[in-house]
Amino acid sequence: MPESWRNPLRDKRDKRMPRIAGPCSVVIFGVTGDLARKKLMPAIYDLANRGLLPPSFALVGFARRDWADEDFGEVVYEAVKKHARTPFRQEVWDRLAEGFRFVQGTFDDDASFDRLSETLEKLDAERGTGGNHAFYLSIPPNAFPVVCEQLQRSGLARQKDHSWSRVVIEKPFGHDLASARELNAVVNSVFPEESVFRIDHYLGKETVQNILALRFANELYEPVWNAHYVDHVQITMAEDIGLGGRAGYYDGIGAARDVIQNHLIQLLALTAMEEPVNFSPHELQAEKIKVLSATRPLQPLDQTTARGQYAAGWQGSEKVPGLLEEGGFAHDSVTETFAAITLEVDTRRWAGVPFFLRTGKRLPRRVTEVALVFKRAPHLPFDSTMTEELGKNALVIRIQPDEGITMRFGSKVPGSAMEVRDVNMDFSYGSAFAEDSPEAYERLILDVLLGEPSLFPVNAEVELSWEILDPVLDNWSAQGRPEPYESGTWGPPSAYDMVHLLDREWRRP
Ligand code: BG6
Repeated sequence: MPESWRNPLRDKRDKRMPRIAGPCSVVIFGVTGDLARKKLMPAIYDLANRGLLPPSFALVGFARRDWADEDFGEVVYEAVKKHARTPFRQEVWDRLAEGFRFVQGTFDDDASFDRLSETLEKLDAERGTGGNHAFYLSIPPNAFPVVCEQLQRSGLARQKDHSWSRVVIEKPFGHDLASARELNAVVNSVFPEESVFRIDHYLGKETVQNILALRFANELYEPVWNAHYVDHVQITMAEDIGLGGRAGYYDGIGAARDVIQNHLIQLLALTAMEEPVNFSPHELQAEKIKVLSATRPLQPLDQTTARGQYAAGWQGSEKVPGLLEEGGFAHDSVTETFAAITLEVDTRRWAGVPFFLRTGKRLPRRVTEVALVFKRAPHLPFDSTMTEELGKNALVIRIQPDEGITMRFGSKVPGSAMEVRDVNMDFSYGSAFAEDSPEAYERLILDVLLGEPSLFPVNAEVELSWEILDPVLDNWSAQGRPEPYESGTWGPPSAYDMVHLLDREWRRP
């Protein structure tokens, strides 16, 4: 039976105890990039600081720079000092830094990978890393094939009896369904699917995992979690930042590929899926795959989707430039920085309930939430003036910031008259728990080292997400420039039109 089918109910280990990774080396390709500095290196230090990495651990950087091990150590040190979540402790750092190595090389050069292989072998012997190697590809997807081939050629990808070799890949997984299939075929020709860990960092967030706890550990919500009571669902990921400095990655990709294809569709899957038989990776993935297979964009796409590109405007008190004035973007770039789509989930639970997904840069504030907006009560035994200020009930899962859950419902305003107005009932992580939430990358990197695949989308999920999005992207590509919207606003007019079409309104998160 594959490991991923294991029924966790039969596994008697106390699951509250944190598991510590076994001996291993992590190799980061793309070590000079933003992600490595801001997220990966700090997360590795935070894991070490929490005692979750073994003494036999090594971190290997691979890049073109002419660095010695010490220079690489300096880069990691700066990154940790600046971005780590937990306090700096010299003794933890000293122990971790003993396992730092740097391999100078290029992806197309056999000798570079031979040197990498020798370095890892030496580490296995000197530090006892046990032949276990995780290769983290924090590089553009067009470089995946050559790196995978090199790992195969140099024998580093070979699966052995008593050690493991895993590959971690960052999005974007392709550009559309066809390219995702090609990419997956290349990766799977070198690494078997159980050794491939595709990162969607939203799945590493505590608040995202809490969707499962909320839905399946409670009795309160399940009876209303369906089309009988839910009017529609809004999934929003808004950012106030622009794209200055990220043109190289973002131009030609855009908001839908960057965020909807992965983070938002995963949030939809967790919100809409049926209860899994248990939380083994296989059962969880099976339910996600099932619900994604039933999900499609609502037609006609011209009216049920919206895309925009930020123009100059005000972000709070700061005057900010439009996308086309940001360095690196072509003056006629058609890259969208705002995308919104309407999806339908053709299942008994969700038939007729629109799921509105939206994301954008340079919106008024940074917020991610999943909001279930409920139908109105079938009958209101009040004079209509008494309920003028009563909206629809809502359950809002606040993914970030200010992590928590809000229930919105009507309540009597104190006084002699009967007047009903919306109020909020709030659960906040900050006040309910003493523990701080780990960063998503801490959880995900640890899971890679433990070989725990639950929080990583499998091939089929990635392909289904593209199948959902491809018709929308095709429709947009035939339409030229996205609609401009002023920075600091909630997107272009067409974003409002698409919800008005179905007689709904966007929430103001
Ligand atoms: C990344 C996107 O996946 O998520 C970025 O590529 C975006 O464009 C980022 O800024 C946001 O992540 P978070 O965790 O800050 O919401």
